[in-house]
Amino acid sequence: MTDRVRIYEVGPRDGLQNEATLLSTEAKRRFVELLVAAGLREIEATSFVAPSAIPALADADELLVALPRSPGIRYPVLVPNVRGMARAEAAGADAIAVFTATTDAFTTKNIRMTVDESLAAFAPVLARAGELGWWRRGYVSTAFGCPYTGAVAPERAVEVALRLIELGVDEVCFGDTIGVGVPAQVEALTARAVDAGIAVERIAYHFHDTRGTALANVVAGLAGGIRCFDAATGGTGGCPYAPGAAGNLATEDLVYLLDASGFEHGVDLEKVLVAARFVAEALGKPLVTKVGQAGGWDPATGQPVGR
Ligand code: COA
Ligand code: ZN
Repeated sequence: MTDRVRIYEVGPRDGLQNEATLLSTEAKRRFVELLVAAGLREIEATSFVAPSAIPALADADELLVALPRSPGIRYPVLVPNVRGMARAEAAGADAIAVFTATTDAFTTKNIRMTVDESLAAFAPVLARAGELGWWRRGYVSTAFGCPYTGAVAPERAVEVALRLIELGVDEVCFGDTIGVGVPAQVEALTARAVDAGIAVERIAYHFHDTRGTALANVVAGLAGGIRCFDAATGGTGGCPYAPGAAGNLATEDLVYLLDASGFEHGVDLEKVLVAARFVAEALGKPLVTKVGQAGGWDPATGQPVGR
């Protein structure tokens, strides 16, 4: 089992999509630049969705072309339909994420399609991205619970994941959209997915810290062999269609845990804190993440770092 973990940054997309303050395209570009400087290599940059659905990301076309490009850096973008795919192609994308969920109630509110309809809509998008050689991720949101229908069985999350894999995604990401999951559920879902034939290398988790369980869930994922976790620098965001879903797991909190636990990931905590302060200031909010407030900790001196 490798000790290398991929930190998949979702701050610019999942973080900013649900903030009341809209950032300028230039502020978003600067945020991404700081994330790259911190060593993040997979940064979900924006969404090519209907601007009426997510006004905060309506500048996706201009933003994507403005981002600093270099080999080894991937900027996946959310795409819900062929219209979004055409926009992503025109803007020079090279990686996409499609997004569905475990329940029709959730997808109907979020993307105005049932789960089956969403998979049908993604088929041509994923096929086209495959032709272009793009990296493809599929989200299974509400993997542990739905704000409209309640508890979700792991069998259901795996069933949707398998259908995304049939459509060609390289990776499935199970999202705890409303932050209700606990470690035993993560263990159960990982085991179920692996039993169904999904390799751990193709599974990612996306936790929200809504109820303070995100890092505990990461630990459960690590124990199950998962090596890709989503996080948002500054702990911003949530999903606008998931009432109460405030706060992605903060990248700075994840980096601290991984560093102190001996996992390699290539991300510099002090530089993540610079990016976290930048985005908090741009949003006009205090930085309230745990490590954002306390800083990291240098075992050689006993002193906090990056505060
Ligand atoms: N990019 C830009 N505009 C788009 C678009 C896209 N990918 N897809 C649809 N539109 C436009 C249509 O042109 C239409 O515009 P008009 O009213 O000016 O003619 C409008 O959006 C509605 O289009 P329609 O095809 O009827 O879509 P819909 O209303 O059924 O909505 C989605 C479906 C998926 C496009 C929309 O719900 C959406 O973008 N949701 C994204 C939600 C999201 O990102 N959630 C966060 C992730 S948790
Ligand atoms: Zn999220």
